[in-house]
Amino acid sequence: MTQKTIVITGASDGIGAAAARILADRGHRLILLGRSREKAEAVARQTGAEVFVADFARLDDVRAVAAQIASAVGPGGIDVLANNAGGIFGDPTPTVDGFEKTLQVNHLAPFLLTGLLLPQLRQGGASIINTSSIGHRFFGKIDLDDLDNRRDFNANKAYGDAKLANVLFTVSLHTKLRDEGISAVAFHPGVVRTNFAAETTSAMRFTYRTPLLNLTLISPEKGGATLAWFIEGEPGTTWHSGRYYDQRKLTDKVNPQVRDAELAEGLWQRSADLVGLTGLV
Ligand SMILES: NC(=O)c1ccc[n+]([C@@H]2O[C@H](COP(=O)([O-])OP(=O)(O)OC[C@H]3O[C@@H](n4cnc5c(N)ncnc54)[C@H](OP(=O)(O)O)[C@@H]3O)[C@@H](O)[C@H]2O)c1
Repeated sequence: MTQKTIVITGASDGIGAAAARILADRGHRLILLGRSREKAEAVARQTGAEVFVADFARLDDVRAVAAQIASAVGPGGIDVLANNAGGIFGDPTPTVDGFEKTLQVNHLAPFLLTGLLLPQLRQGGASIINTSSIGHRFFGKIDLDDLDNRRDFNANKAYGDAKLANVLFTVSLHTKLRDEGISAVAFHPGVVRTNFAAETTSAMRFTYRTPLLNLTLISPEKGGATLAWFIEGEPGTTWHSGRYYDQRKLTDKVNPQVRDAELAEGLWQRSADLVGLTGLV
């Protein structure tokens, strides 16, 4: 197995932490990103990984951590970036950057991190793995003029939009960067028994917090194994770049907006404007 330099966000808990545990001892260089240093360091102790910390609800944190990671990886670059941090929240109070938190944590922050790490991703001929959700299909309907869902906030819709943005970002990364050797994929990890939905008031929390319903969910180890499968997989062989998978299964069951090339480009440009990354590619 080829040894890779792997960056995983949202690695302090749930699917990201489970993937890190699976990938430990396979000879990879693991770089974990968490929001809480204490939690991320606990996973690092179990996996022998390096740890960096950023709160995605603060874009300055993302800028700082991107610079730290760029300097740590050196000329070899990054082989895999797993944009996995995210969740459903419930309060439309803007972040310090002025954006709705669901949009920022799930989409704008990973967009910024990926953009700032592009030199290292180019060096590594990297795979970018975006943890999306089947919720993109059920709840997402992006309006570029109301990305923040300010008109009529609903936690499920905000989450569906942000996870749809993950898929559209994947399509754009593939379109714009495949000729430079960069691949991208988005996937739904299954309905996984994690800390997910702990911070929301959405009815979705009942699925994760009601003991009997909770029993029907798959284990974090299974969700993490799927993320690890994408991370260690080879684009073009294990999975196809630019596509969306339901766990490990390639599927055309996507939100119709995924096929809207104009929307994908519009979202890229709007996101770049919002995070101050214009002229990226
Ligand atoms: N669980 C499911 O059923 C399910 C289904 C579909 C998609 N997903 C997606 O899977 C991904 C991982 O979720 P999970 O199920 O593993 O949930 P989780 O156990 O809550 O883990 C989420 C991870 O994201 C991090 N995170 C949350 N807010 C953050 C912020 N503001 N800044 C930086 N990091 C932040 C968390 O850090 P802390 O440890 O500090 O909280 C944690 O490491 C998410 O993108 C989620 O949308 C999950």
